[in-house]
Amino acid sequence: MSRVVLAYSGGLDTSVCIELLREKYDYDEVITVTTDVGQPREEIEEAEEKARKLADEHHTVDAVEEFVTEYCWRAVKANATYEGYPLSTALARPLIAEKVLQVAREVDADAIAHGCTGKGNDQFRFEAYLKAHGGDEFEIVAPVRDLNLTREEEIAYAKEKGIPVPVDVDSPYSIDENLWGRSIEGGVLEDPTRKPPEEVFEWTVSPEEAPEEPETVEVEFEDGVPISVDGEEDPVRIVELLNEKAGEHGVGRIDIIEDRIIGLKSREVYEAPAAITLLEAHRALEALTLTRRELSLKSRMDDTWSELVYQGLWFDPLREHVEAFIDSTQSVVDGTVVVELHRGRAVPVSRESPNSLYDEELISYGEKKFDQRVAEGAVELHGFQERLAIRKRKP
Ligand code: ARG
Repeated sequence: MSRVVLAYSGGLDTSVCIELLREKYDYDEVITVTTDVGQPREEIEEAEEKARKLADEHHTVDAVEEFVTEYCWRAVKANATYEGYPLSTALARPLIAEKVLQVAREVDADAIAHGCTGKGNDQFRFEAYLKAHGGDEFEIVAPVRDLNLTREEEIAYAKEKGIPVPVDVDSPYSIDENLWGRSIEGGVLEDPTRKPPEEVFEWTVSPEEAPEEPETVEVEFEDGVPISVDGEEDPVRIVELLNEKAGEHGVGRIDIIEDRIIGLKSREVYEAPAAITLLEAHRALEALTLTRRELSLKSRMDDTWSELVYQGLWFDPLREHVEAFIDSTQSVVDGTVVVELHRGRAVPVSRESPNSLYDEELISYGEKKFDQRVAEGAVELHGFQERLAIRKRKP
């Protein structure tokens, strides 16, 4: 009796995998696992319904709150973006892999399967995690990659086997959604000269269509983590609320050429209204509370953190070392930022903190607290070495 556990989204790739695992890989039992990381409720219900028909057993694992507090909040502290992408898909992968591995152990499976293709990043993220944490306990199978299937072949196979194909199967887009963002690839987006058509967006209105009047949101942080937004304190609700509000103002659309792990360049479109708003607010508060040297080193640490996450190396010990640095800087990142949402932009317009390093009395032109005369000596020495070099090196 052989048993395989499949990371299941309910989409075409993973639905086709169920049957392939029986037919081409000879597993007797296929057990599906869908991890709830805040994708639309209907998507999860559809996955459950399809799994009832196609799989031998199904598990839905609720990980929404864990996703927000253990993954998204760390991303906020690290100002995490990769080439402008707030890492929504990447952040969820290790968590999904963890949940799938848990179920595989519970049901005493022989193998773990995923529906990733051989071109993308997700195969690296899933397998790096599973190999590190599952060791040799489970065989890892990737049928779509293994059989080198195209989308058309998958559709034909699904029709032949009576596998329900998604209602939007004509839609050429590959979409991945969780609470931190929505990733859209494929179709006309593959032509980088073409502007993304309006139909690819679901969470955001077009900035041109957004309300003429700006709206503000007030974000309160403690130790670099958002603890309330306009009085809402529940972490999951905070992200939901900002996705709605900022989305209505066209905030969070991203259209980039991205360097994938294997080196392929790809055209990626994202919607991440909450992520972009919170990242802007967090950066504004760090600018107020951290020293310039802290900011400078931290920005390099932030890049390292983001790169590890993008590459699916969540469990690399380096992430924890980098986080130790990041966390030690965040103890002063407390306070409130007001962000104005307007026609595609999220702009911090007010910031305050009990740990602010900003001193209005020192900087103000109208104040005498700062004795300007002390600057004279500093100015005299500024550029001293450069002056020497220019003189000595004259031909
Ligand atoms: N390029 C993004 C990433 O690597 C998004 C991937 C989207 N995945 C998907 N299966 N559509 O994180």
